[in-house]
This record gives sequence, structure tokens and C-alpha cells, in this order.
Amino acid sequence: MSHDSPGSPQVNLLQLQQWKTEGRRIVMTTAYDAVSARIADAAGIDIILVGDSVGNVCLGFDNTLPVSMAMMNHHLEAVARTRPRAFLMGDMPYLSFHLSVEDTLRNAGGFLQRGAQAVKLEGGAKRLGMIRALVDCEIPVMGHLGLTPQSVHKMGGFKVQGRGAADAVQLLEDAQALQEAGCFSILMEGVPADLAARVTETVQVPTIGIGAGPNCSGQVLVFHDLLGLLPGPSAKFVRKYANGFEDQTAALRAWSEDVRSGAFPGAAESYALPEAAKASVADWKPSRGPGVH
Ligand code: KIV
Repeated sequence: MSHDSPGSPQVNLLQLQQWKTEGRRIVMTTAYDAVSARIADAAGIDIILVGDSVGNVCLGFDNTLPVSMAMMNHHLEAVARTRPRAFLMGDMPYLSFHLSVEDTLRNAGGFLQRGAQAVKLEGGAKRLGMIRALVDCEIPVMGHLGLTPQSVHKMGGFKVQGRGAADAVQLLEDAQALQEAGCFSILMEGVPADLAARVTETVQVPTIGIGAGPNCSGQVLVFHDLLGLLPGPSAKFVRKYANGFEDQTAALRAWSEDVRSGAFPGAAESYALPEAAKASVADWKPSRGPGVH
């Protein structure tokens, strides 16, 4: 199965590396279904991640821990069916890469068989064994350092990481270790900008930041965050480029009012009965009295 279309081949891993070398910043967002994937692709986004953030963004969980492989596969398949031009990645959910190498390979390989080009997984030095096994099986891996949401309880909440000297040095070392293990890219979430900049200049692979300042090779924001689709306050690192929640609520409210007032549907949204059928419909009489709606 090829995802190439004649005019616009799908972004690949070599291009991402080349963009880092050229200093062309990489743009990444999440998508969880065909609609979000098509919007992201139409906007020319470089990387689409089917993130485990689907848990809190779409499925109503408080965090990403309850997200399973079955849920991820369901959402990845929907995105892959749109055959995006963007580089397509699947996010390894909690416990999908912790239990055994065999389990990890089966889960990650399943993403590739469903159309992903790479997987992302959270964690540094502790995950090197699994990362090496994945890379050995031709599965490209993006590492994820800093604020790793699957460690929410261990971190004591969603907190910026790498602020202390020892933690900052550990993060630099983890980034080196991920690169040596074969990661093609490293995502940094919720880390001080200076630290992310230092990682970016000390590794050869592209870095992607979210709450990691401007000096990464690229940036990622969650689709629903950047389109303002979620109610309530958002994290400091989010910039909203639309007021999706307010605008869509207003649209639904306007439609409700039109339905209640009888303004919707109008002639434009209705089908006309052909002239030939009009007389038959008008002349027809119910045999059993008025029907019940
Ligand atoms: O699941 C997710 O959305 C992520 C973000 C860092 C983009 O991992």
C-alpha cells in the first residue's frame, strides 16, 4: 500500500533530518480522526501524531494512562485512511512498551502495519532496551523527554522538568542516549527553553518542542489546543489560533434557534417533489385515519 499521491509524496524521515540540517523548522500537530487529519494535512503540517492525548482530548479521561492499544489503533486507522501527505506517527500508550520486547514490537509493528511511519514513546535511559529492539526491527522511534504525561503520578502532577542542575544534565544525557539508541528525533515537553536549545545544538537528530521554547528544530501543539476547541484555561505553552469552542457553540446555538423558529430548513436545504407526483400526493387519503408522528 503506497501513501504517495502523484503531486505530493508523503513526508519521510530523511526529509525531516534534512530540514534540521537546513534549519527549516518542522511543524507537527496531533490528529485523532479523519476530520482532524484532513484539516492538518490541508494546512500543510509536516508531521501528524496520533497522540495518546486522545485520552483527555477526545475520550474524556483525566490523563493518558487509561489509553489502550485498541483505542490507539482505532484512531490511527481513521487517520491513516485519509492517506495524509504528512509524516504519520503513532504514540505508544502506557504499558504498550513496558512489559516485554515481544509485546513492544508487536504493538509498534502494528502501528506500522496500519499506516504509521514511526512511533513515539515516552522516557529516557530506562527505555533504551526497547528502543534498540524497535530500531533493530526497522521501526523508526521518536523519543519523548521532559514532562512525560504518562509519568504524571511520579512527577507529582504536570510540572516543568529539568529545572534543577542535576535534572537538566540528566536530560542532556538522556537525549544523547536516545540518539545513540537510534531515535530519529527527540520530542521535549515542558522543559526550560535554554535546556531545550542546548539539547538541540548537541544532538544531530531533529528536536520537536512543546513548552520547550523557540530553539528546537520544530514545534508541536495538540490540535484541539491550538484551535481553541477545549473549554477552560490552557497550559502556558499553548497559543490559540482559533476560538473553536466558542465559535462552534455559537454555530450550534444559531442552528437550534433556526430549528425552533422554523427558519431551518428552508427551500435551499429541502428536496422538491416533481410536478408529476404532486397531484397523487395531494389526492391520497389515509385509509386508517391520521397517523401518529
Ligand atoms: O499525545 C500527545 O499529544 C503528545 C504531545 C506531546 C503532542 O505526546
